[in-house]
Order: sequence, then structure tokens, then C-alpha cells
Amino acid sequence: MITPDTIEKIMEAARIEEVVGDFVTLRRRGVNLIGLCPFHNEKTPSFTVSAPKGIFKCFGCGKGGNAVNFLMEHEQYSYPEALRYLAGKYNIEIDEEKPTPEQQQALDEKESLFNLTGFAQKYFEEQLHNSDEGKSVALTYLKERGFTLETIKKFNLGYCSNKWDDFSQTAIKNGYKQEYLIKTSLSKTKDKLLYDTFRGRVVFPIHNLSGRVLGFGARIMTGEKNRPKYINSAESEIYHKSKSLYGLYQAKSAIVSQDNCYLVEGYTDVISLYQAGITNVIATSGTALTTDQIKMIRRYTPNVTLLFDGDTAGIKAAFRGIDMILEEALNVRLVLFPEGEDPDSYARNFRPAEVAAFIKDQTRDFISFKTELLLEETKNDPIKKAALIKEIAQTIALVPEAITRSLYLQKCSELMQVEESLMVAEINRLRRQKWRENNKNADFGEEPLKTFSKPQAAAKQDIHKTNNDYQEKELIRLMLQYGDQELEFEVENEDKRIEKIHVALGRFIVDDIQADELKFDNPVCQKIFTTYANNSSEEKQADPKLFTRHEDDEIRSLAIDLLSSQHLLSKNWEKRHKIYVIEEEENLKPRALQAIYAFKLKKLEQMINENQKRIKEISASTPLDEDQLRSLLEANRDYQVKRKMFAFALKRVVTK
Ligand code: CTP
Ligand code: MN
Repeated sequence: MITPDTIEKIMEAARIEEVVGDFVTLRRRGVNLIGLCPFHNEKTPSFTVSAPKGIFKCFGCGKGGNAVNFLMEHEQYSYPEALRYLAGKYNIEIDEEKPTPEQQQALDEKESLFNLTGFAQKYFEEQLHNSDEGKSVALTYLKERGFTLETIKKFNLGYCSNKWDDFSQTAIKNGYKQEYLIKTSLSKTKDKLLYDTFRGRVVFPIHNLSGRVLGFGARIMTGEKNRPKYINSAESEIYHKSKSLYGLYQAKSAIVSQDNCYLVEGYTDVISLYQAGITNVIATSGTALTTDQIKMIRRYTPNVTLLFDGDTAGIKAAFRGIDMILEEALNVRLVLFPEGEDPDSYARNFRPAEVAAFIKDQTRDFISFKTELLLEETKNDPIKKAALIKEIAQTIALVPEAITRSLYLQKCSELMQVEESLMVAEINRLRRQKWRENNKNADFGEEPLKTFSKPQAAAKQDIHKTNNDYQEKELIRLMLQYGDQELEFEVENEDKRIEKIHVALGRFIVDDIQADELKFDNPVCQKIFTTYANNSSEEKQADPKLFTRHEDDEIRSLAIDLLSSQHLLSKNWEKRHKIYVIEEEENLKPRALQAIYAFKLKKLEQMINENQKRIKEISASTPLDEDQLRSLLEANRDYQVKRKMFAFALKRVVTK
């Protein structure tokens, strides 16, 4: 374990522009540096580095973070690996300390689980290739399916014998604990007796990126319908289905060299295609595609081709996959296999050259795919056609990058024979609608004052979250950005003379919110606020780096997002942005007041709503609790008066 002191030293030494500069060509633009984003495909730079803030942010794909985050994302380093890299770069000696017993235990447990799954893989392989039962039943089955010995070894396929607890007993004899056998779901218990989960099945080990075994899929060797065809390892401390991809370990270098990745549904699809020479292939194995999986793919290539069965289920899954992949700013293409065939069966029925030719011929971009499929149904029916155009527009609207969006637009208007301007209008409408949903409840009148206008990609990530925490984030943003700047107030002193006092903005907000004992609804905002308050004093406000380097992912990414709002790190460092920032800095006091009033106004409205609900409940109850009703009504009046006051004050600072 690297000591906190060393971590501190490393973080102090690391210059973000130098760390990033080793991988990305950066140019100066205003106070920032910009370059082409290494995390998504782009032609005009949206990737921005702020040296004074020590952070990077891409306005195209939304990625952002500090120097360590950059290395973890770009080089696939773990946290300690990234720290060691930086220590090497800046010649910092690393102090190590022994892990605490809890840390050691967590490490030990993961390690023990991996040791066991590794042992299991070897045992199952041994059984498949060397035991009589394995050779006669399982190896024959796999060979009949057309897998060569080389392929079987490449994917470390194995066999779990049909005896009740053969594997479990061997594992126990070799010193593996029953606890871990259960945790990896290699064994189960029945009436306190241990038995093999995968008994009588061929097993497909699922590897992580470094080739360690996360879990297994196991298939019966018959076509019978009354037993599940596959049994899979359950989630465990080492196996997270939504974050693993079958075959990625074997496919990753081919994916990089071909700059494309084929995504199929099943274990056997991966293996058969691989054997047919298409080696850049992976599968989600039985779960619907997740955003985490798409992000894993994006480390290797921005291009995904979905290979799906031509049945309704396959098409549905493909449609879902398209939208998710586009939203993550990857390019998606598709191949549908003829009905009744999956990639595995096709690869078995045709020669490798034919498979390759089929895939090449049948690859469609998602627009052609959707239009070709759906146009059939909508032939000569203008209403259905209009609905189809809307449907496709919805998908195009998900694409975060403007240039890519416009290319898709052109293509679609050609295929559908509609005017491009109509499509543009529809897509803009959809994007505006999304934007509004995102920023609604911003209590700043008609058009928000643009104090916190989010870049599009970041806005996109927030779509599914509730977005009524605008005021809370604005407060936190001001505290992080301008915490130490002084505000001037005029107060009357004891001699009734007007005196000028100065209070740091961060202090002012903390005191004001704490005086009213207000809490933030957004838990991350609350955490930042509390940490900020605890790390500030009369003289010195909390350092924003405390948050941009925070170990809690949520705190760190919110702080980075807030500190890189478009006006401050804009890639289009246009005049109006410059003016905007200067204007904001010169008007910090009204900005702070405005943010506080808006926050309190929202809180008051919540209290009013709750209070009124109570009033309704009490009024409807028998016998009527008059005392309580009276006090609720009084509170209501009180709140209403306060609300008016804050609304008035807010209006005054805004229009001043
Ligand atoms: N699957 C599963 N459990 C099942 C059926 C399927 O977990 N009962 C998962 C497996 O990961 C499987 C994938 O879904 O690989 C696709 O299912 P399917 O197409 O039915 O299986 P195939 O991979 O085609 O297997 P096979 O060719 O051996 O029938
Ligand atoms: Mn199949």
C-alpha cells in the first residue's frame, strides 16, 4: 500500500499537461490546452486540459478527471499502477506501508477466489482431455460441433464430470475452502452436502483482461428441453456480468489491429467465428448489452458491428444495442443472419472465406438497417412512413457528435426521400426537448442565466437522473470556483456607522446555509458541502483540489464537471465566453446571493408542499385535531411570506 504522504507528493508533482502530453498532442488555446480526444473518435478537438485546475475534460464524450484518472482510463492502469507510473515519471520515492488487516483480508479474499477459479479451469481441462468420461462424452461433443483441438485449447474449454461432487472434493483435498467454492458458485449445497454446480456439462471459462478466470458458462450436451441449456456462474466479488465480455481476452489485440469489434450473442458464436478466422469477436453471454460493456469496448476501438439472428428477438436486441452504442459515441453497424442461423451455425455450414464474404456483404450502417427493415412494412403508407422517420430521427438524435449526426442525417433523408431540412428540424426539436428535460426546474425565469450550462455530452449522461438539483450544483460550483474570493458587505456598527466588511465567498455560503440548517437533496452535493465546511476556516477556504482528487468517484466527477462547465473550459474560447467569465468574476456577490436565494426558494417550496399535504390529511381526519391544523396553517402562512421575500430578493439581484 502506498502511503497517503507519497500519494500527496505524487499528486503535487504531477502536471496534468505533461502527463496527458505524453499521449496526446496538445495546443494552447486561451488559458487551456486542447487536443484530439484519445477516448473517442473526433476530427476537431474537444479535449481540453486545464493546467491550473489540474484536470482534463472532453466536451465530445464527457470524459474528465485528474492526471491519475487519465492514466487509468488511457493506459488501463489500476489506481496503484497509475501512481507508480507517475512516481517514476517525477522521480518520487515510494513509501509503502503494510495494508491494514481489513484491506489484506479483502485482497486475500479476491485472490483466493481467483486462485480457485484458476484451479477449476485447469481441473476441467484436465478432465476433458484426459479422463475417460471427458474424452468419450465431452470431447466428442465439442468435436462434433466442429471445434478443433486447437480452438478448444485456445478458449480453455473443459468438462465437469457427471459424478455428484468429484470436482468439489478434489478442490477441498487441494486445500480450497468450502466458503470460496460456494462464493464462486462452483459448488452448491443440498442437505449440507456439497455438489458440483456444473456436473455433466462442458464448461466455458470467462476471462478478465489479464486472462484470469472470473467465472464459467456450462452447457448440457444434449438438446433436451427440460433442463436449462446453460448454467452460468452467479455474480461474485470477482465476477460482474455487466462488466465482463466473453472472449475479450482472446480478441483484444485483433480488435485493435482491425479497429472493429464483432459483437455476438453466445459463447459458441464467439468460438466458431474465431475458428473461421474472424478473431475480433466477443459476446455478452446471455445478458443484455450494458453501458459498462460498451465503455470497455471503446478502449480498444470506436467501431462495433452487431451480429444477430434474423428472428424477432434478435432484431429487437439489435435495436436496443444500436441506441445504447450510439449514445456512448461509438459507431455501430449490423449484420443479420438468415432466419434460423446464428453466427455459430453459419460458420459451421460455410467455409471461412464464405463467412467473411457474407459478413462483408451484409454489413449495414444502422440507418440503412432500420430503414430497410421497416420500409417494407411502411410501403405506400404515408402515416407509417412519417412514424418511421420520427423513429429514426430519435435514434440519430442520440449521437453526441454534431458532425457524425449530420452525416447520418444526410444518409437517412436520401434513403427515406425526405427533405434534409425537415429531418434537421425534427432532430433539433428532439435534442432541445431532451435539453429542457435535463435542465428543468431551474428557477431562473425563462432562459437560465447560463451560470451553469452543461456541455452536451455531460448533459447526456444526466438524462436518466432527476435534474432538480440545478440550484444545489450552482451553489457548490461557486464555492469550488471562487471560494477564496472576498465579497464586500456594508454593516452598521455599534456607533450606527456604516462599515465595510469582507467575507470569503465560500465562508459566506457555508455560514448562510448552516445557519438555516438546510440540507442538500443531492447526496453528492451534501457530501461536498460538508467536507468543504469541515476543511475551511475563517482565513482559508477548502482547496478545490481536495475534490478534484477525491477518492470517491462521485465526488470527484461532480467537482470536475462543475469546474469545467463550458464557459470556463470551452473549446470555443470565443469572445462572449471570455466576457462571460470576466463578468461573472466581477459580479460574484450578486451571483452568490442569487444562488443562495434560488436554493432557499426551492427548499421553501418543498416545505410548503409537504406542509400542505399535511394540512389536507389533518383536515380529512376525524376527530379533527384543531390545534395541529392551526399550527400547520400558521406555518403555511409563515412559509408563504418567506417565499415572497426570497422571490422578491431573487428578482432584484437577477435584474440589477
Ligand atoms: N444463455 C444462457 N442460458 C440459457 C440459454 C442461453 O445463459 N439457458 C446464454 C449463453 O451465454 C448463450 C447465449 O445466451 O451462449 C445465447 O443463447 P443461445 O443462442 O440459445 O445459445 P448458443 O450460444 O447458440 O448455444 P448453442 O449453439 O450451444 O445452442
Ligand atoms: Mn447456437
